[in-house]
Amino acid sequence: MKISTLSALVVVTSLAASSGVLAQDVAAGKTSFNKCLACHAIGEGAKNKVGPVLNGLDGRKSGTIEGYSYSEANKNSGITWGKDVFLEYIKDPKAKIPGTKMIFAGIKNEKEANDLWAYVSSFDKDGKQK
Ligand code: HEC
Repeated sequence: MKISTLSALVVVTSLAASSGVLAQDVAAGKTSFNKCLACHAIGEGAKNKVGPVLNGLDGRKSGTIEGYSYSEANKNSGITWGKDVFLEYIKDPKAKIPGTKMIFAGIKNEKEANDLWAYVSSFDKDGKQK
C-alpha cells in the first residue's frame, strides 16, 4: 500500500473515532436492545408498550411521553436524559430512580451500556435514525 493511501486511512479512522460513535457500536447496541424490546419500542411508528417509547431520548425530560402512565418516581426524577445519566441509570435503574416501575436488573457491562446508548441516541423524536 502506498504511504498516501495509508495516511488517508489513518485520517478517516481518527475522524470516526473523534465523533465518539462508531457504526459497529450502534450495531452492537441494537443487539443489546433486544433486552429492552419486551417493554420498549423504538423507531418509526413505535408505540408505548409496558414501558414508554424511547425515541428522541437524548435531551428528553424524564416522564414526558404523552399517553404513557409513568410512576411518580420516574415523572419527578428531574432527569434530562443524556449519555452520562443514561449510563448511570441503566447499570441499576432502581438505584438511580428509587420507586421506578421498570423491573430490570440493569446492564453492568460498560461497553454494552455505551453501545446501547449509541443505538438509542441515534433515533430522533420521530423515530428516524439521525
Ligand atoms: C420489564 C419491562 C422493561 C424492560 C425489560 C426495560 N424497561 Fe425501561 N421502562 C419500563 C417501564 C415500565 C418504564 C416506566 C418507569 C416508571 O414510570 O416508573 C421504563 C422507563 C424507562 C426509561 C425512562 C423513560 C422516560 O421517559 O423517562 C428509560 C430511559 C428506559 N426505560 C430504558 C430502558 C432500556 C434501555 C432497556 C433495555 C436495556 C429497558 N428500559 C428495559 C419497563 C422496562
